[in-house]
Amino acid sequence: MAIKILCVAGARPNFMKIAPILRALSARPAFRPRLVHTGQHYDDRLSKVFFEDLHIPKPDIELEVGSGSHAVQTAEIMRRFEPVLQAEQPHAVLVVGDVNSTIGCALVTSKFMLAEPFRCASGIRRRPLMIHVEAGLRSFDDDMPEEINRKLTDAISEVLFVSDPAGLTNLAREGVHDSRVFFVGNVMIDTLLAARDTAMRSTVLETLGLRAGQYALVTLHRPSNVDDPATLAPLLRVLDELGERTRMVFPVHPRTRARMSAHGITLDPSRWVVTDPIGYLDFIKLTACAKVVLTDSGGIQEETTVLGVPCVTLRDNTERPCTLHEGTNVLAGTRPEAIRAAFERSLVAPTPDRRPRLWDGHAAERIADDLLRIFEGFDAPARTV
Ligand code: UD1
Repeated sequence: MAIKILCVAGARPNFMKIAPILRALSARPAFRPRLVHTGQHYDDRLSKVFFEDLHIPKPDIELEVGSGSHAVQTAEIMRRFEPVLQAEQPHAVLVVGDVNSTIGCALVTSKFMLAEPFRCASGIRRRPLMIHVEAGLRSFDDDMPEEINRKLTDAISEVLFVSDPAGLTNLAREGVHDSRVFFVGNVMIDTLLAARDTAMRSTVLETLGLRAGQYALVTLHRPSNVDDPATLAPLLRVLDELGERTRMVFPVHPRTRARMSAHGITLDPSRWVVTDPIGYLDFIKLTACAKVVLTDSGGIQEETTVLGVPCVTLRDNTERPCTLHEGTNVLAGTRPEAIRAAFERSLVAPTPDRRPRLWDGHAAERIADDLLRIFEGFDAPARTV
C-alpha cells in the first residue's frame, strides 16, 4: 500500500510550488499524491493558465471556495476540507506557502483523527503527518495576513521544509526542535529552472510591442499597497514619473484593478502597457527581459534573484532576506524618493554571480527523499496498537 499524501494548492503562488512536488512524489512508487485545489483563486488567468503552463494534472479534489473576507474564506476552506480528510484518510497533508488555503487546511489536519492508525519511523500515528513547504519565512510584520498564516502553519506542522537559510534561524528562535526542520532549497526555483527554456520561447514581447531590456515590469497586489487610495495613488504617481525614462509594463491583479477603478485611477498609455494577469511562461519571459522589476510580490523577489534581473521591492520588509544578501533585490519601501533612488541604483548595480544555497532545481526531490525516510517502516494500517 502506498503512502497517500494530500497536496494542497489554492492561490496563484501555490501552483508553481506544488508542481515539482507532485512530480517528485509521483516518480516514487512509495507515494500516492492527490491534489486538492481549494479554489481560493478561480479566474482562468490566476489558476487554469498555471495548470496548463506547468503541466499540473487536473486536481483530484476541488473545493471551489472562492473569495471572501479572511474569516469567511478561511472558514469555508476548513469547512470543505474536513469531509475530504474523512473520505480520503490520508497519511499526510502537504501545504505550501502562506495563503489562506495553507493555514485553513493545516489547521483542519492538525486536529483530524484517522479511522485507522498507521506506523512510520516515528512510531504509531493517529493523525495525518502535517507538512509545510516554505516554512520559517518571517517578515516580522503582523499587519501582513501572510505573516499570521506563516507563523500559525509552522506552529502546527510537524515537518518543516525550509527554502531560505533565514528560516532556520527564525524557527530556532521560536524554539522549534531541529528534528522537525529540513533545509531543502526552493521549490519555486525548481519550477523556474525547469521552465526557463520554454518560457524564453514565449512571444509575449512581440504581442505587447516591447523590446528586451527597454522596459520596467511592475506588479502590485499587497493590501497594504493597493487597498487604500491614499497609498496606491502616490505609489502609481512615482512609478508614472519613472515612466518618463522607460516604458512601464503592468499586469494588474484583480484586487488592484478593482481599487483603481473604484477610485478612478488611470494610467497614461504613452508610458504604460497595462494588461490582465499574465500566465507563468509569459511572465517569466517578461521578467527575464526586463531592465528592472518593481514589485510587492514575495515570489518575484526570488525569481529575479535567480534570473539576475534587478528587483526593487515596494515594501518596507521582506520575509526572503537571502534575495537581498545573495540576489538582486533592494528594499525600497513606498516613499517616492526611496523608490527613485533604488530604481536608479538598480540600473547600475552589478548582478551577483552567486545564487542562494540549494536554489538548484532539486528541492522537490529532496523533499520526496526526506519524506521517504520519515515514512520508513510505513505500514498502513498499523495492527499492533
Ligand atoms: C492572495 C494571497 C496572497 C497572494 C495572492 C497572490 C492570502 C491571505 N492572500 O491574495 O498571499 O500573494 O493571493 O495573488 O491568501 N479575485 C478574482 N479572481 C480570483 C481570485 C480573486 O477576481 O481568481 C479578486 C476578488 O475580488 C478578491 C480579490 O481578487 O476579493 C483578492 O483575492 P484574494 O484571494 O482575497 O486575495 P489576493 O489579494 O489574491
